[in-house]
Amino acid sequence: MSQPKRYTITAALPYTNGPIHIGHLAGVYVPADIYARYQRLIGNDVAFICGSDEHGVPITLKAKKEGVTPQDVVDKYHAIIKTSFEDFGISFDNYSRTSAPIHHETAQAFFKTLYDKGEFIEEVTEQLYDAQANQFLADRFVVGTCPKCGYEEAYGDQCEKCGTSHNATDLINPKSAITGNTPTLKETKHWFLPLDKHEAFLKEWILEGHKKDWKPNVYGQVKSWIDDGLRPRAVTRDLNWGIPVPVEGGEGKVLYVWFDAPIGYISATKEWAAREGKDWEPYWKNNDTKLVHFIGKDNIVFHCIIFPSMLKAEGSYILPDNVPANEFLNLEGNKLSTSKNWAVWLPEYLKDFPDKQDVLRYALTANAPETKDNDFTWKDFQARNNNELVAILGNFINRVVVLTHKYYSAVVPEASEFTAVDEETLATLKAYPAVISSAIERYRFREASQELMNLARLGNKYLADEEPWKVIKEDEARTKTIMFVALQIASALATLSEPFLPFTSAKLKTILRHAELDSEPTWNTISEKETLLPAGHHIGEAELLFSKIEDEDIQVQLDKLEASKKANEAANKTAEPQKDEITFEDFTKLDMRVGTIIEAEKMPKTKKLLVLKVDTGIDIRTVVSGIAESYNPEDVVGKKVTILVNLAPRKLRGVESQGMILMTETTDGKLVFVNPDNALETTNGLQIS
Ligand code: 2FM
Ligand code: ZN
Repeated sequence: MSQPKRYTITAALPYTNGPIHIGHLAGVYVPADIYARYQRLIGNDVAFICGSDEHGVPITLKAKKEGVTPQDVVDKYHAIIKTSFEDFGISFDNYSRTSAPIHHETAQAFFKTLYDKGEFIEEVTEQLYDAQANQFLADRFVVGTCPKCGYEEAYGDQCEKCGTSHNATDLINPKSAITGNTPTLKETKHWFLPLDKHEAFLKEWILEGHKKDWKPNVYGQVKSWIDDGLRPRAVTRDLNWGIPVPVEGGEGKVLYVWFDAPIGYISATKEWAAREGKDWEPYWKNNDTKLVHFIGKDNIVFHCIIFPSMLKAEGSYILPDNVPANEFLNLEGNKLSTSKNWAVWLPEYLKDFPDKQDVLRYALTANAPETKDNDFTWKDFQARNNNELVAILGNFINRVVVLTHKYYSAVVPEASEFTAVDEETLATLKAYPAVISSAIERYRFREASQELMNLARLGNKYLADEEPWKVIKEDEARTKTIMFVALQIASALATLSEPFLPFTSAKLKTILRHAELDSEPTWNTISEKETLLPAGHHIGEAELLFSKIEDEDIQVQLDKLEASKKANEAANKTAEPQKDEITFEDFTKLDMRVGTIIEAEKMPKTKKLLVLKVDTGIDIRTVVSGIAESYNPEDVVGKKVTILVNLAPRKLRGVESQGMILMTETTDGKLVFVNPDNALETTNGLQIS
């Protein structure tokens, strides 16, 4: 192994206004974790950094919505996010938060340095203002039409559809997200980072320097922004939630969240280094450190243009070596959405599948949105588990361990002569670390995970072809050799699965008792070592690595999504428009009484109609009512109803209906009686059924 390299690996700091969902995991945290674990395994010096992004308008809006303070919001979600990452096995060296004092100090010092170096433009400009809310409208406080792609829900600083980052005043038809008002313009002073000044450097560094090694989606976006021309961007805001601007004239203003958040990577590194008794600076300032930012595609502009311009302007920092941004993950054909609750939330997943962290990691990696948006479906999740983890990897390990116990009382047997197939199998096995490494080094985690599964396939095929369970009857020496080879494959799987399936890898190492070996196999030694598990080594008890996921388990998840869909449809249902006006005289003509249903039966051959007998107080009459989809006949007998008694009778399917029952509709579309004893929440006005 050559000299260990130093890696600073960052994963986007999640906004602390909600839990983590599968979109975040697939886009950022699972690939980042695979990469960090892999770099550690091959012996590199890694700082894997993340933390909660606790400033910015999303937090303020959430606090307003919940009627609590922004601090309450970040405290609540920071704890939820941190715990769920830990439980899911994301191996951050430090998970910090941007409300930490060390971050406030670091971000303010960074701003001050750029200020002192004259790297900002200080300017009074007209900014969007909501007079009713008495507030400037920046970032997510304002929504309007994107000047680039025409998307009507673009935010003040960024369009989530096309990814463009712009100034709030560029929005067409802006509207305040607080009051819905059209903003006015008001003068205010801010500090701007002149991105145009850094254009030449960005062109040389990215467009010329990283054309080959950056992902085409990242490179393409960056190129198009640079080609469109860069403009100064304000890095301060008139808000009261954030890091105070530390220079004269900055009173009442805070740093733009996208100025402070990426500096959070630096502060979190400082916090970690202090805790570990290390020096943080080499991780950010030595040219031989590789800085890699894992992000989703909506963060590209900030990590490839704005943050590097800040680092360059400061002067003492290194720049990212790569920014392997992923595309988006959809869920069952629809865009993931926090507000519509169209998501698989990590804390809920961990509750529903407490020992299946690796299954989700695997399903998300095998189907990662690396080059295009992809879709997560529960059926695919089930298939990845049942057909790959259980049927291929789990099955191979189980057969090897069970047979070793059965034939050799759990002791690795001595191999005798290797056949050509054995030699070829062992040679293929030794090539796997390089094959998987190559995919990981190119940020192709899907490919890497499939190569890992191919190694398990190799094991299965070897056993199926060599059939030790048959050979044992006639050739003991040959059986020992077969089992010896199979055990070597199992051992390689224990080590090579660690970045992808850390829980499984740990279990497998325990089963194979790796820790008791004189020299434990490592990623780097698999290809060099003669044997990984030597003859005479005792292995442990068999343990099931994966279990089948049944259709019922999947149905529970699909039902949850269906419930979200229904709730959304109900919430979005618009009330029917008002009917034409009537006069008071018209109204007084209606004779409405409270009656009681005394008999009810289904109208034959219809879906909707019930034939009711109603005691109106004046008489007992027949009413044909269109409520059969909401009520069974036996359920309505005895119910009090409001009935319009002076409506001209009419025949329905041959039965004369002598009145109308007044109904209304609940939010989920069920018809209910209007009666004097119940108060109902309705979306549509009274109905006559
Ligand atoms: O998009 C987001 O969720 C941001 N909070 C990411 C910030 S990344 C970094 F710069 F901190
Ligand atoms: Zn747009």
